[in-house]
Amino acid sequence: MKFFVDTADIDAIKELNDLGMVDGVTTNPSIIAKSGRDIIEVTKEICDIVSGPVSAEVVALDAEGMLAEGRKLAKIAPNIAVKVPLTWAGLKTCKTLSDEGTMVNVTLCFSANQALLAAKAGATFISPFIGRLDDINLDGLELIESIRVIYDNYGFDTQILAASIRTANHMSDCAKIGADVATAPPAIIKAMANHVLTDKGLAGFMADIEKAGIKIL
Ligand code: E4P
Repeated sequence: MKFFVDTADIDAIKELNDLGMVDGVTTNPSIIAKSGRDIIEVTKEICDIVSGPVSAEVVALDAEGMLAEGRKLAKIAPNIAVKVPLTWAGLKTCKTLSDEGTMVNVTLCFSANQALLAAKAGATFISPFIGRLDDINLDGLELIESIRVIYDNYGFDTQILAASIRTANHMSDCAKIGADVATAPPAIIKAMANHVLTDKGLAGFMADIEKAGIKIL
């Protein structure tokens, strides 16, 4: 499973990228707003750091506006994936941009039917939002499972990009289901390293090292 990092925080991207943990980056208007930077400028800086796909989202609501914005975003770098919402206008934009050879990430997906439409429209990525479904007592992981089955039934190339990931367990659950990609904030990716028994075990080793005066260097 590929790891995308869901942030525009340049230092966090660099840190994880240096560790080989970043196969791509996703942003959305809320993430860009939080960065306080110009969307073109910050996206360009991310594309200079990361060689994998970098999602940049359109802000227009109509197909004509989305297309114009998508074409502008696509010019930032060859690894841009234009992110469009899963609306009829977004699907139209997805089809046109995909036909032009631009990667497209269709976002705000909350149902298997929506994912089916995105694949038909030639999406490179479909982004089902796990956490936001869980927030309203629906099962986000169940949606990832359904999309996996449907895409495999028909051999769609669209990659399942599990999004709105809120816990480290979501990452391993998505990997078990067979999501192609999972995008998560840096803190969640780092939290994957945590285990209470690792901390306890290390504390025990440290006590013995000190008692025995063990030194390596
Ligand atoms: C993905 O592309 C989205 O930017 C992101 O995962 C949304 O996550 P949230 O529901 O935690 O805002």
